[in-house]
Amino acid sequence: MMYERVSSALGQRPPKISHEEMRQRQRDFCSKIDSQSVAIITNNPVSIRSRDTHHRHRFNSYLHYLTGWHGEEGVAVFHHDGDWKCRLYVQARDVEKETWTGRRPGVQGAIDQWPVDESKSRDEMEADLANILTAANSVYHIQGLDTVVDGIVAAAFDELLDPRVILDEMRVFKSTAEIALMQYAADLAALAHIEAMRECRSGMGEWQLQSIIEGCFLYHQSEWAYPSIVGSGDNATILHYNENKDPTRDGDVVLIDAGCEIDGYASDITRSFPVNGKFTEAQREIYALVLDAQMAGIEACKVGAPWGAMHKATSRVLAQGLVDLGILDCTFEEALGDDFNGPYRQFFMHGTGHLLGLDVHDVGGGRQGDNRPERTLAPGMVLTVEPGLYFGAWREDIEIDPKWAGIGIRIEDDVLITDDGPMILTAKCPKQISEIEALVGSI
Ligand code: GLY
Ligand code: MN
Ligand code: MN
Repeated sequence: MMYERVSSALGQRPPKISHEEMRQRQRDFCSKIDSQSVAIITNNPVSIRSRDTHHRHRFNSYLHYLTGWHGEEGVAVFHHDGDWKCRLYVQARDVEKETWTGRRPGVQGAIDQWPVDESKSRDEMEADLANILTAANSVYHIQGLDTVVDGIVAAAFDELLDPRVILDEMRVFKSTAEIALMQYAADLAALAHIEAMRECRSGMGEWQLQSIIEGCFLYHQSEWAYPSIVGSGDNATILHYNENKDPTRDGDVVLIDAGCEIDGYASDITRSFPVNGKFTEAQREIYALVLDAQMAGIEACKVGAPWGAMHKATSRVLAQGLVDLGILDCTFEEALGDDFNGPYRQFFMHGTGHLLGLDVHDVGGGRQGDNRPERTLAPGMVLTVEPGLYFGAWREDIEIDPKWAGIGIRIEDDVLITDDGPMILTAKCPKQISEIEALVGSI
């Protein structure tokens, strides 16, 4: 079984985030809010897939961060009662419902097994919460996830405070335990990409490459962190292509952007490789250019660097390369343009990276919200570095030389910022041309 090879290369799965660490997060959060306030953190809603069938539920990252709770309809309420208390409202035990949809910890299970001070049934929430809110001066709440809670809050307050302003800042900096989980997610995704490369043959369906990768996640009690992108030939030039429905063709490059989740923490890797194991000359030139840009981007991930430094670094390399290859008929300065908005953006139209954590496009953002200063890189931040070049033959807005048409290449790694420089969490996934050519189709 091919996945056994992955299992033996994976280290020990790290433990989930401890209750002590979640308690510390709760204390940190509460220390930043007014003791006359109440903070309410709800779960994500269940969403319909078809008629009475639902998408697999995924917990809300804020709720998970603070309490580890994953059950549907869970609501955490932070209220000050002499000192701060974390109360969890959960679905009550109900044998008939549990027979159909699964066991529930219930009120007793919640208090026994989760790091909270109090637990109550959701059936009591409406009256309870209305009372708590009556005694409060303000409320922190994110609207739009739990319509019942939204209604209760709206009846008590016209204006809401946003808990994300506090929580996002806390989530940006990863602890040792979080980094261990992210390293494991990075290792698993790296090894899954390697399996797809090994098994790849010209003519294989994009969906078959997807199945190798996602099967590997599932085999290791993980799942995708975002819908896997497997695009060959021209499909690789569509940034969020995830139909994965076409057969690959001899001579194509396939771009696979796939990552997994471990205890909620994401990895996010892209590799681009020739399905027949050998880059054409044109593909090799573009690949080498994107790789140079990516390495320049990683190099720029230093403590103290402004968030935008890595994008500037990748952009400079790509703009120069596009001029050198004759793809842009202008000077380097013209290609780059004012404010990094020159014609090189026709072929590199996205940002260079994003923060990574409990959400694949993690909170905290490079610009720290509207009108706030640009973020500076600091130890404990994890981000992606993912430049690419895309020459879609389908593009009607620009003329693409047939030599480059149908080439789409992105290379994406996950990087931890440390005092000793950038640490590539996804380093197990090969990206040098010789390594990739040796690997593809090698089984
Ligand atoms: N997988 C989505 C991204 O790379 O941002
Ligand atoms: Mn990414
Ligand atoms: Mn990605």
